[in-house]
Amino acid sequence: MNAPMIKRPFNIDAIRAEFPILAREINGRPLVYLDNAASAQKPEAVIEAMAAAMRGSYANVHRGLHALANETTEAFEAARAAIARLLNAPSPQNIVFTKSGTHAINIVAAGLDIEAGDEIIVSVMEHHANIVPWHFLRERKGAVLKWLDIDNDGGIDLAALDALIGPRTKMVAITHMSNVLGAKTPAADIVRVARAKGAPVLLDGCQAVVHGSVDVQALDVDFYAFTGHKLYGPTGIGALYGKIERLEALPPFEGGGEMIDIVEQGRITYNEPPHRFEAGTPPILEAIGLKAAIEWWEAQDRAAIEAHEAALRDRAMAGLRELNWIKLHGSAADKGAIVAFSVEGAHPHDVAQILDRQGVAVRAGHHCAQPLMKRLGVTATARASFACYNRLEEVDALIGALHKARKLLG
Ligand code: ALA
Repeated sequence: MNAPMIKRPFNIDAIRAEFPILAREINGRPLVYLDNAASAQKPEAVIEAMAAAMRGSYANVHRGLHALANETTEAFEAARAAIARLLNAPSPQNIVFTKSGTHAINIVAAGLDIEAGDEIIVSVMEHHANIVPWHFLRERKGAVLKWLDIDNDGGIDLAALDALIGPRTKMVAITHMSNVLGAKTPAADIVRVARAKGAPVLLDGCQAVVHGSVDVQALDVDFYAFTGHKLYGPTGIGALYGKIERLEALPPFEGGGEMIDIVEQGRITYNEPPHRFEAGTPPILEAIGLKAAIEWWEAQDRAAIEAHEAALRDRAMAGLRELNWIKLHGSAADKGAIVAFSVEGAHPHDVAQILDRQGVAVRAGHHCAQPLMKRLGVTATARASFACYNRLEEVDALIGALHKARKLLG
């Protein structure tokens, strides 16, 4: 599982040059893309890897005996190994390819053995991917959702978590980093608290995997879910990490080719994990694209990127704090580069539209986190989310564009 790791010294111009879309103009202005928590842009390495596979080495995987099938299967399984490396999983066997983070969580939720009255613990700052699959268990099997509250910055009270966990807790499902507040959760402590009471933990790493290093073995977590498209990879591909005994205990989620062992007219047996969860032709090109994204990511100076993203976050927070008509949501000490805010007297959708006219792309709405919006006492917010390729000057462009929005809407 050794990565071809050549660290490239951090250079913002060099990084930006690798993302062709960043050269675009929007509404006659240079694009300022601050919607990375929704989906990040793609470097040439990813675009080229997918195009090269389609041009020169493509077939279905695990089925053929010809050269192209073998080459593609090798590339596909190398992508699994790359994900295992990214998460420091013990083996590629712990990694299930999924079509998204949402899909990964659905696989776990659907496979749990739930009886009426069994409990699932979620925090109020989850995005819907880590809420709705559990709601299905409430609606369909009578599970009870127990909600862990947060403080206004997204902080988690471990004693409150401990108090929620009981003998009927079937899963503690919590984000590793909020997609709205940016707060990073104390994942290792969450696992420790849950483990002490015998409850399994699923961490939703859709944001955390992009804004820090993840080590599933150090975390000792049972399941870890993430998606590729926020990590500079393509859409349509994500992954589920599971401890091997946890994956072995989960029944398959979907039925089809490749997830089976023996199929007879009156009997069926299933493949081992991870293939048991990968019914049908998988997202082959997307896996190849994600492998390229991970290798690109591994080649970067990640410590320098973390420092750069912290500088972006701090500049944005400081700039927004100076504006007494802006309310910031979430100032956790351990916060990734995601900044949610409200503009006094203006709907976030109107704010986002005016920013867009100035070339600044932010997300506005409930961010697929309606329980969190309710907890914050708002229906929606605006959100600027940063990536390694954003410049400090783009924070200034955001602030300047907000002044204009204020003038037009105030
Ligand atoms: N969960 C994604 C976001 O935060 C879609 O925008």
